[in-house]
Amino acid sequence: MQHILIIGAGAIGGYLVRELHAMYPSLRMSCIERSELIPGATKRLQDLAGTAVRLYDSVAAVPAGVELAVECGGHAAVTQHGEACLDAGYDLLVASVGALADQALYDKLVAAAKRNDRTLLIPAGAVAGMDGLAAARLAGIDRVRYTSRKLPLAWKGTHAEKLCDLAAVTSATEFLRTDARQAATLFPQNANVAATIALAGVGFERTEVSLNADPAANGNTHLVEVEGPCGSMRIELSNKPFPDNPKTSMLAGLSLLRVIRNRSEAVQV
Ligand SMILES: NC(=O)c1ccc[n+]([C@@H]2O[C@H](COP(=O)([O-])OP(=O)(O)OC[C@H]3O[C@@H](n4cnc5c(N)ncnc54)[C@H](O)[C@@H]3O)[C@@H](O)[C@H]2O)c1
Repeated sequence: MQHILIIGAGAIGGYLVRELHAMYPSLRMSCIERSELIPGATKRLQDLAGTAVRLYDSVAAVPAGVELAVECGGHAAVTQHGEACLDAGYDLLVASVGALADQALYDKLVAAAKRNDRTLLIPAGAVAGMDGLAAARLAGIDRVRYTSRKLPLAWKGTHAEKLCDLAAVTSATEFLRTDARQAATLFPQNANVAATIALAGVGFERTEVSLNADPAANGNTHLVEVEGPCGSMRIELSNKPFPDNPKTSMLAGLSLLRVIRNRSEAVQV
């Protein structure tokens, strides 16, 4: 790969720029950031990577030659730049998978990928086992259930406040049981994992979601339970936050880096 585009120069974007520059010193890197943040972001990224990362505010402004765009700018960035990336001939790796719970946006991106013969890539992100889930799907799956558990105050500022009194929670409390479509819509900040599981498995409507406030939660924990003809799976994660953004799991940045690296490795696992 000669030229990569990173959309969103935040915690994950900055991490990718630094790691990719260290791994592939000759890789050309462009970034898209919100226009008002470009001067500060340019300096920060250039300090990070010691290289001339160039920042732009739209796909139209990015020089030719990009092979892969990596969205790590949030749901609005998928809406704003996703289709333009595919139309420009880039494959598109999407971190903000929860944006794809919007069926109209998903359909638009799939249509753009098909007409440009490009690929929309969905990383496992902050969850794991998506290879097994997507493989099990080929034989049919009976049930997928996703349980999210966080400390009560970690749900502050979200729709959870309307469903339970977080300050009064003293033991594990399930405050919502729904499907992945509704979970992703009501909880955009927490939608990425539910949406990834839905896309890898049985879709948004059939993926059961349980959201819990738990004073005993060990960080941000995810449990995925799968039952089907090929057997059952139980995938449990307790994620540590990203140093630069406590709302993002470290695993999410690593997962994106792995997908990018795999594109140029002789052996892909
Ligand atoms: N798939 C997963 O499991 C998973 C896990 C964690 C985070 N994420 C996604 O990754 C995203 C990035 O995470 P982060 O920790 O780096 O966030 P961050 O807030 O540190 O960085 C986001 C950056 O994107 C920029 N941005 C916002 N809107 C933009 C737009 N329209 N165009 C270009 N840039 C824009 C912001 O200014 C900011 O610099 C999150 O918003 C989240 O949706 C996915």
